[in-house]
Amino acid sequence: MELVILHVTDIHNALERVEQLKSWLASGNHKLDVVLISGDIANAPMDWNLTAEQEEQYQKDLQVVVDSFTSVKSRVYFIPGNHDVLPVFKVGEDSPPLVPSNPPFPCNMHMKRTTIAPNLHLLGLGGSVPGYQGGEMIWEGFPYRNYSEMDSDVHKLLDPVFFEDTSCLAANDAVILMTHVGPAESDTSYIREDPQKPIVSGNKELMKLIATEKMQRHCVLNIHGHSHFSPGQCVVGKTRILNPGPLQDGCYGLYTLRQRAGHSPSWEVASVCFHTLPSTS
Ligand SMILES: [Fe+2]
Repeated sequence: MELVILHVTDIHNALERVEQLKSWLASGNHKLDVVLISGDIANAPMDWNLTAEQEEQYQKDLQVVVDSFTSVKSRVYFIPGNHDVLPVFKVGEDSPPLVPSNPPFPCNMHMKRTTIAPNLHLLGLGGSVPGYQGGEMIWEGFPYRNYSEMDSDVHKLLDPVFFEDTSCLAANDAVILMTHVGPAESDTSYIREDPQKPIVSGNKELMKLIATEKMQRHCVLNIHGHSHFSPGQCVVGKTRILNPGPLQDGCYGLYTLRQRAGHSPSWEVASVCFHTLPSTS
């Protein structure tokens, strides 16, 4: 069995890029199973004090983009980034962390988990931490003001699945972790415009947990965005880390996962293709 994933990230409300991508997909008759959108869908300022009207407008912007992808493929899962607004991060008390396999789409996966194929789970965590260069904060995070705020959500999402409840995952289950920021100090989240002074734009706790034996057993993929200038792939142990670059600049990824009987985990990454659309200017 195979699963083909379209991964887009950092759209920043560039609807012309969404239309361009949809035309490319339609012209090539590409087979897709799911669309994963890893944040910065709208282009909101990082502001905790927006008016209700402003928040509503940016939420509408996000909705237009994610709805647009449902015409490509109805199974669209997304998470908010630091340029999406606070209400998109609100996981209500009554909102179950375990989403049914076929929820209403598009499905907001922030702080949630679901099953997207037999033995294949998706976990989502949006938002960003501040960026640091030479130990100094050079940009803010949103909605997380510091590492410890995000670390608390990292543990809330990952601990029950990987570290507390051993019944959550069967031995041959695989996990895709979709985050907005990548694991800190990975090649896909370091920003090396100045090679002597890279900017650390990822999350350190995420890196620590992905490297644990328990996560290594199941987590085949961590897909993310946020770091516009660090597209590409790297590995943390057996976990592939993928950042296709921003769709705002025409970048996206097509990945194929393949299920193999008798292996643990039963899913592996069969192919990774990064594409860039032609310039629109
Ligand atoms: Fe971002």
